[in-house]
Amino acid sequence: MAEDAVLGFLEKNEEISDSGDFAAERGINHNDIVDIIKSLHGFRLVDAQDIKREKWVLTDEGKTYAAAGSPEVQLFLAIPPEGISREELQRKVDPSVYKIGCSQAMKNKWVEMGKQLVSKKVQNVDDKVKDLLIRIQDGKAIDQDDIDTLKKRKLIAPQIWKGYSVKKGPNDAPKRKKVATDLTRENLQRGDWKELEFKEYNFSAKGQPTEGGHLHPLLKVRQQLKMIFLQMGFEEMPTDNFVESSFWNFDALFQPQQHPARDSHDTFFLQAPSTTKTLPEDYVERVKRVHEFGGYGSRGYGYDWKREEANKNLLQTHTTAVSSRMLYLLAQYFSIDRVFRNEAVDRTHLAEFHQIEGLVCDRGLTLGDLIGVLLYFHPLFSGMSKLRFKPAYNPYTEPSVEIFSYHEGFKKWVEIGNSGMFRPEMLLPMGLPEDVRVIAWGLSLERPTMILYGIDNIRDLFGHKVQLYLLSICDLLINTVFDVNWIAFFCH
Ligand code: PHE
Repeated sequence: MAEDAVLGFLEKNEEISDSGDFAAERGINHNDIVDIIKSLHGFRLVDAQDIKREKWVLTDEGKTYAAAGSPEVQLFLAIPPEGISREELQRKVDPSVYKIGCSQAMKNKWVEMGKQLVSKKVQNVDDKVKDLLIRIQDGKAIDQDDIDTLKKRKLIAPQIWKGYSVKKGPNDAPKRKKVATDLTRENLQRGDWKELEFKEYNFSAKGQPTEGGHLHPLLKVRQQLKMIFLQMGFEEMPTDNFVESSFWNFDALFQPQQHPARDSHDTFFLQAPSTTKTLPEDYVERVKRVHEFGGYGSRGYGYDWKREEANKNLLQTHTTAVSSRMLYLLAQYFSIDRVFRNEAVDRTHLAEFHQIEGLVCDRGLTLGDLIGVLLYFHPLFSGMSKLRFKPAYNPYTEPSVEIFSYHEGFKKWVEIGNSGMFRPEMLLPMGLPEDVRVIAWGLSLERPTMILYGIDNIRDLFGHKVQLYLLSICDLLINTVFDVNWIAFFCH
């Protein structure tokens, strides 16, 4: 109806000069007219120009006087012909009315405030203030002098009024055509798409506001760690080997074939393909020998080493598997990769998590270098200065050191990693010179992240029960970024 009014008027007239007047004359709500004008303008049926006007509106005080009369008139009317004492008059009118009423009535010379009596000086008065306020309320104009007075008495306040002047637009038409917003199956079947007029794309329309999003804590800590390693001179290279052979995951690391960690209770073995195709044969031979008979000053384990066991494929149980491959090629590395362990999940354990693996390979390295490196980058992890080291056992390192950090929430020391110096039984069969030492470590990415972010359940951080509040748009990032894996490689 409002739309018909606007388009109908423009058909016969050049312009709607003021949407406010236009609405008032037709008894249409101005907001409705404004909505229609904006929409018609969007479709370029009309051309609209903003009009801004300062308009006067009543303040709360102004509104009460417009209804009940000005305080000076209220006071005047409360005075009987014979006069009244101040106390009694005060009792008869509202306290706020009394004060302002007296001063205004005196100013107007309507009353005389004697010591004893308050009496009228005139017979009748007009409530000009009330009349003016009502005129403003009705949107009618009043003199500038009157505006000034009312403004001074804070009975009216300015308000910006927004409206439009409207002319015909480039797509002018007596009626808006309904345009199609969708091409449907039915349109295609009936063939009426040929006649349909489609709505144009609005390329400047703003998209849905994103509700917010942030990087997943694991990504942040991961990034921080990467920077630390890179600053220390390590280089990174891709690790995309979730599936690994037992040989590189265990045998090359001098881990005996009967070791409990090789049990399917601890390791996910693959059904298909169940075995690896190729291994470096002469190296395999040296590994077999060191397991069976030792060498390089070691007695070995003294058992019958089986190739079939080494061939078995598994999901890498630690990133040290990658280290063993890379060490074989000789280098200095770090990697952050996903690892898998067949274990019961609880608030501090996951069957699938991330390890930050690092190793340094050089002549004459000592345990002091290992602890030094760990201490070097740990404080950089911000806030995690409480670190402890504990002697431990790994088949492939001697000495071995477990790393603990203090979790303020748990009020407990939590293991965040394991480290050590690779045994000669592992290094020498690879062909590394005898005086070369390798310090290495494997840290959890999740545990330090829990400590840094005060998260007390590891399942909130990673895995299928991950807390949605941590993710929002980040789950996208984590899935894509984590599928690209990394290992550092640095030639010494
Ligand atoms: N592979 C060990 C683990 O999974 C960590 C480690 C890496 C220990 C390198 C010593 C040397 O816990």
